Amino acid sequence: MVKADIGLIGLAVMGQSLVLNMERNNYTVAVYNRSTSKVDKFIQKAGRDKNIIGCYNIEELCNALKQPRKIILMIKADKPVDDTISNLFPFLNSGDIIIDCGNSFFKDSIRRSTELKGKGLSYLGIGISGGKEGALKGPSIMVGGSKKAWQKTKKIFRKIAAKVDGKPCCSYLGPNGVGHYVKMVHNGIEYSDMQLIAEAYFFLKNLLNLTTDELKEIFTNWNIGDLDSYLIQITKNIFSIKDPETEKPIVDIILDSAEQKGTGIWTSQEALEIGVPVPSIAEAVFARSISGQKDQRLKASKLLSGPTPQFSGNRNSLIETTRKALYAAKICSYAQGFSLLRTASKKYKWELKFKDVAAIWRGGCIIRAHFLEQVENAFRQNQGLENLLLDSYFVDIIENSQKDWRYIVTLAIENGIPVPAFSSALAYYDSYRNPFLPANLIQAQRDYFGGHGFERVDKERGEIFHYDKWPAVEDKRQHRKL
Ligand code: 6PG
Repeated sequence: MVKADIGLIGLAVMGQSLVLNMERNNYTVAVYNRSTSKVDKFIQKAGRDKNIIGCYNIEELCNALKQPRKIILMIKADKPVDDTISNLFPFLNSGDIIIDCGNSFFKDSIRRSTELKGKGLSYLGIGISGGKEGALKGPSIMVGGSKKAWQKTKKIFRKIAAKVDGKPCCSYLGPNGVGHYVKMVHNGIEYSDMQLIAEAYFFLKNLLNLTTDELKEIFTNWNIGDLDSYLIQITKNIFSIKDPETEKPIVDIILDSAEQKGTGIWTSQEALEIGVPVPSIAEAVFARSISGQKDQRLKASKLLSGPTPQFSGNRNSLIETTRKALYAAKICSYAQGFSLLRTASKKYKWELKFKDVAAIWRGGCIIRAHFLEQVENAFRQNQGLENLLLDSYFVDIIENSQKDWRYIVTLAIENGIPVPAFSSALAYYDSYRNPFLPANLIQAQRDYFGGHGFERVDKERGEIFHYDKWPAVEDKRQHRKL
């Protein structure tokens, strides 16, 4: 019997698409799914008459593979991954390679690869982005794990990946965990990108009373030039779709309560833990959370007042101003994501090449965007670049658009339209560019109530001082009671 080149466990949408992509690229794929009816369905429908071997248990899958075995896991993160790895153990030989292509938490990937190494097995933690269509036609592939294992598998992954300028959006980025880390940050940026687009839509719709046809036209224009990206493109498409039941624009009948699977939360938590400011990403997560409080918001809307949006200026110039503000805020949110990667790379000793990350993200993935070419160039010219905002190309863009950006945020605030991602990105920009922040006062307060100490502007960094004569504070409330 012909042995398969590679195996895949998990026939949900992404898994199925990846299998079809590999098969189209002339690989024979053995597949298994825990609920085996999915195997039957897949083999009979999408996988019919293709070089795909359906397997009904893990042993069968392992026997169907060429050695060393290469097995992709495309399953739910967390316990299902650990369980599947345990189930695979008895049927694997030394040198076999387990490849986790799901959205696993990077620390789990580090742990798993150590455990597997101890058992003579190799591990790759690969972040895959692009949704169903990307997985089928060419996803973006972020690889971390054993270099040796990568040498044995890279041909397949590079072949199935998206291509930009003929180059696959697929690179080995470093050791255990880094693939899933980069995917996690990709998703964090995806959250802020989506939130910024949603804010731009909401702002314009409310101030200018736009129809979805008008919104479609705006986003069609925005998709030419600086903002050209997958997310702007799908947004434009969304505005042209009608709900088949009511004939209303589909966007108007979808409930305004956003779900999340957790990668944006991971990015924010990780950033908090290692001390990197990613306010636009965190705000995007919070924006989804507050959207989820739909019942409370309905109640509050009857009690809490605010201004009624109104605008009497030039509509076209407001649309162009919003476009420029969106681009500036977007740059800031990517700057935050790359800054997180930079600190993580140092902390975990990954020696991550940021130009490679930008290159991988240029095609196939959800955040793919024309401007990532500029990001790639910035890091190609200077791998040591501390922050994207310091690159001359981006300095110029922000210089040209910051007036517009400030105007949009001010107008939104005046009109009571929430723009947490636009405004937090602006606060990030203003904080980052400012040589003085009010943290001196915070340090004074900390020293006052906790003796936590402070550094001085006129002494070497690292030397800690205390002020020992902070006056005692009278407790006013106690006073009143007496
Ligand atoms: C991708 C996406 C994908 C993500 C889903 C849902 O890169 O293909 O990022 O990995 O999991 O789009 O994410 P949320 O449910 O958290 O929005």
